[in-house]
Amino acid sequence: MSSAEAAAAAPQRSVSLQAEKVVAGYGEAPVVKDVSLSVGGGHVLTIVGPNGAGKSTLLKALLGIVRVREGRVALNGQDITNRPLEQLAHLGVGYVPQSEDVFDTLRVSENLEMGGYILTPRQRAERKEVVLEIFPALKNMLSRYAGTLSGGERKMVAVARVLMPDPTALFLDEPTAGLSPDLTRRVLEEQVRVLADLGKAVLIVEQKAEAALKIADHAMVLVTGSIALEGTGQEVRENPEVGELFLGGGRREASPSPH
Ligand SMILES: Nc1ncnc2c1ncn2[C@@H]1O[C@H](COP(=O)(O)OP(=O)(O)OP(=O)(O)O)[C@@H](O)[C@H]1O
Ligand SMILES: [Mg+2]
Repeated sequence: MSSAEAAAAAPQRSVSLQAEKVVAGYGEAPVVKDVSLSVGGGHVLTIVGPNGAGKSTLLKALLGIVRVREGRVALNGQDITNRPLEQLAHLGVGYVPQSEDVFDTLRVSENLEMGGYILTPRQRAERKEVVLEIFPALKNMLSRYAGTLSGGERKMVAVARVLMPDPTALFLDEPTAGLSPDLTRRVLEEQVRVLADLGKAVLIVEQKAEAALKIADHAMVLVTGSIALEGTGQEVRENPEVGELFLGGGRREASPSPH
């Protein structure tokens, strides 16, 4: 067993997220149709799919932001279907949305403190130290306004902010959007994968399919709101149908995007 596997093995049973036949959307026609999934501590579940497939809507449905019309969502066996996101934070859920993920008019330091709003001042100070050890580059930016940061730096703040309360289940919606291929690889391999190896359950949605599938234990391809295929990260990466599903359902994104 590798050290990563050993790290994953111990806390594995402590956290699990399950969705059963979730149907959700905005208007009459559902956007997410009968999606079932499960992810446990120590594991990364990657969801890929073309633009407009319903990936962000699925995450929002799991998190009580978009109403689940049918089906059920459970965290550690407890029903959390349509539970407000604020309550989920207390249950150890962290969410990095696709956009509007940092407060531009607040300093980096204040962004981190906001992320730890459910903590006591003492816990907040302690967690800030821990999070800055995970993202040491942020130490030099603490007094800068988030609105002045680059895209990559903002993403770092967004993920760091969500880590403040030490969540056990992490939902990340395109955390590498706008990042260079090198930074994408580093965010996914050195941060997201490492968080799972610490025992957290990680559900990540990515357009950059190739890079996100590399760090996945399990992966799903979502096309027009349904799971078109699933398997281990490697199985999905190597499946020749995946490219066609992307081409059929939206713009070509099955390979790492060039920016
Ligand atoms: N607030 C909303 N109101 C109405 N329709 C919406 C809303 N948000 C998204 N949609 C629609 O739901 C569908 C799925 O959108 P969603 O954002 O979930 O896709 P996605 O897979 O995350 O796409 P992308 O890769 O571009 O982020 C799209 O047709 C979109 O236009
Ligand atoms: Mg999206």
